[in-house]
Amino acid sequence: MDIRYRPRRLRRSEPIRTLVRETDLRPGELIAPLFIKDGRGLREPIDTMPGQSRLSPDEAVREAKELWELGVRAVNLFGYSAEKDEEATEAYNPQGIVPRAVRALKDTLPELCVQTDVALDPYSIHGHDGLVIEGEVANDETNEVLCKMAVVHADAGADWVAPSDMMDGRVGKIRDALDEAGFTRVGILAYSAKYASCFYGPFRGALDSAPRKGDKKTYQMDPANVREALKEIALDIEEGADVVMVKPALAYLDVIARARDAFDVPIAAYNVSGEYGMIVAASERGWMDRERAVLECLTAIKRAGADMILTYFSKEAARLLNR
Ligand code: PBG
Repeated sequence: MDIRYRPRRLRRSEPIRTLVRETDLRPGELIAPLFIKDGRGLREPIDTMPGQSRLSPDEAVREAKELWELGVRAVNLFGYSAEKDEEATEAYNPQGIVPRAVRALKDTLPELCVQTDVALDPYSIHGHDGLVIEGEVANDETNEVLCKMAVVHADAGADWVAPSDMMDGRVGKIRDALDEAGFTRVGILAYSAKYASCFYGPFRGALDSAPRKGDKKTYQMDPANVREALKEIALDIEEGADVVMVKPALAYLDVIARARDAFDVPIAAYNVSGEYGMIVAASERGWMDRERAVLECLTAIKRAGADMILTYFSKEAARLLNR
């Protein structure tokens, strides 16, 4: 016979394909981002993210219970703040929306891994992730505020804090602040390689947090760079990050794969709002099958090397995977 090797033999049936499958996806590897807004019984649909809503703390608890039943055991909280000022003071208010939601979630689901976003953009008038001083996003002054914010979240009961701001040195500063306050058990999920991406557009609509002036290119990374991502990740690990993240995910699978090769710490990937939007919009138009697109993209992110994925498709994907 002229053809000895026939790879199609291993694709003949679903049981055979299952035996040779290299990547699997489990609900327990997904993290659901939740947008938290003040109120009771509130589920406010987000225009820029069809299918997603801003939830009041009690509704967040309801959502988390549903996720828990489906096997999704981690949430990442973003606060929607109507209180915005120059210094983002609401970011570290112990009675603020995020600490209240953390307490409500931990009261009902003590084992749920509750993670909180640490950055100033939803709380500042200018929409930047840090303090703006003399027209620039000030690094070290911002770190001090981020530390206060992280300690407030830890005190409310957060399991992990997730700095998404991209200031230099903030992971080490936050680690020190947590340890000094007695929160040695609280982990840091660091947004280590976070790019200045247009794929965050829908998210900024959700939190009304788009920068009023300028862009985020002086702190978020240039999409053209990968060596720089490895450096950022190495620094965060050295400073004490427990988990490092690459964000966005789909246009940066090479970054995830390179990080997987270079480091042994757990890697998270953020399947961001614009990636959500592409699938939602194209499938609404009938251009592709939504369920298959969701599972294919999430599997690709895992295949690239991510251990865990933040995704707005968490609930939907878990349902599909449990079927
Ligand atoms: C800001 C933050 C952003 C996202 C997570 N944290 C937006 C930004 O950097 O402007 C984006 C998440 C998404 O698009 O789903 N600290």
